[in-house]
Amino acid sequence: MSHSNLKGKKIVIGITGSIAAYKAAFLTRLFIKAGAEVQILMTHAATQFISPLTLSTLSKRPVYTDVIGEDSWNNHVELGLWADYMIIAPTTATTLGKMANGICDNIIVAVYLSARCPVFFAPAMDLDMWHHPATQYNVKRLQSYGNLLIPVGKGELASGLQGDGRMAEPEDIVHTIANFSLPAPSLTGKKILITAGPTYEPIDPVRFIGNRSSGKMGIALAEVAARRGADVTLILGPSSLSTDVSSIQVVKVQTAIEMYEAALHYFPATDIGILAAAVSDYRPKDPAQQKMKKKTDHLQLELVKNPDIAASLGQQKKKHQMMIGFALETNNALENAKGKLKKKNLDIIVLNSLEDKGAGFNHDTNKISIISKDNKIRKFELKSKAAVAEDILNVVDELIAAEKV
Ligand code: C5P
Repeated sequence: MSHSNLKGKKIVIGITGSIAAYKAAFLTRLFIKAGAEVQILMTHAATQFISPLTLSTLSKRPVYTDVIGEDSWNNHVELGLWADYMIIAPTTATTLGKMANGICDNIIVAVYLSARCPVFFAPAMDLDMWHHPATQYNVKRLQSYGNLLIPVGKGELASGLQGDGRMAEPEDIVHTIANFSLPAPSLTGKKILITAGPTYEPIDPVRFIGNRSSGKMGIALAEVAARRGADVTLILGPSSLSTDVSSIQVVKVQTAIEMYEAALHYFPATDIGILAAAVSDYRPKDPAQQKMKKKTDHLQLELVKNPDIAASLGQQKKKHQMMIGFALETNNALENAKGKLKKKNLDIIVLNSLEDKGAGFNHDTNKISIISKDNKIRKFELKSKAAVAEDILNVVDELIAAEKV
């Protein structure tokens, strides 16, 4: 089968110490045949199963086994940024544990922690090791970081036992990565407006009312939408985070009023609005021009309501436009979310409950339910915010496809 879309792709293969390491030679050969560039990394244990010479010959590049090379430093950060894809095959139980916990005592984990590209892992181990709760827990944790599992196969294992634990075949691994690398042009030509992050409402020149939103969810949505071909404008409140994706237009704002004005400006030309910002509901009525002094035992601030950006855009939404809002709830979650969907004239509402561990503000993970205006509820597991963004945009794709019918 031809894998022409792997041509020119830069692939880091990490090989760890399992008998399945011999399959990494076939894997390397297949990637090279497809026109990819391959950089091999090995643990010391892996070199006992297959010779680095075999792999450097097949990959046509030196193999790295250490962060400190013979007379130089093998720059793991550079390698992590160089790669379009990283695949750890085979991934032993030990390496799964190290990756899940960030234990960086070899070059593979060092590059893994530095990589910004999709990371695939193809475990290989014996039956009981694979089914052990510790292993399964580590697999789930890696998936929650957005890493992609290439499932183990069933069959005869090196121990003589029969069952789960065989590393996937090299052809299947290449096939998975080649398909992943196919561009997903589902949002090509769509203009998407995303609000993200908190807003800061000034009390005086140095103090403000704000909230703990990091902007991570909105930024992840912007990046996934851009990867799917959308033309993205991200209106970002005062978050310490931003995006490196140069095709995303970032509009920085501080206050809810500024966010509101920017959103009103961009919305008419927008196909899809995603309101992921945690907008302050109120702002101080008359912010002091000078820093306020502490004079009295009590201080009362008069607050006035901020505009509801989602509701305002909902009012002017045209038939061809779609809007997605978020609801962060502590109680009566589903009912409240459904109420907001209707009230703000949204097409989809993404519900996350603060009761879910690992979900909501400042986490890298999120656990959501998606409610669409036809009252369909889709529930998802705890995942990385990047994977959650994929789920949300998959539902958007579904609704676009349904409306075309
Ligand atoms: O009413 P509530 O704040 O829970 O609604 C949340 C949804 O409304 C989110 O999508 C949020 O971005 C949006 N929102 C907004 N402007 C506000 C308040 C909320 O756009 N002032």
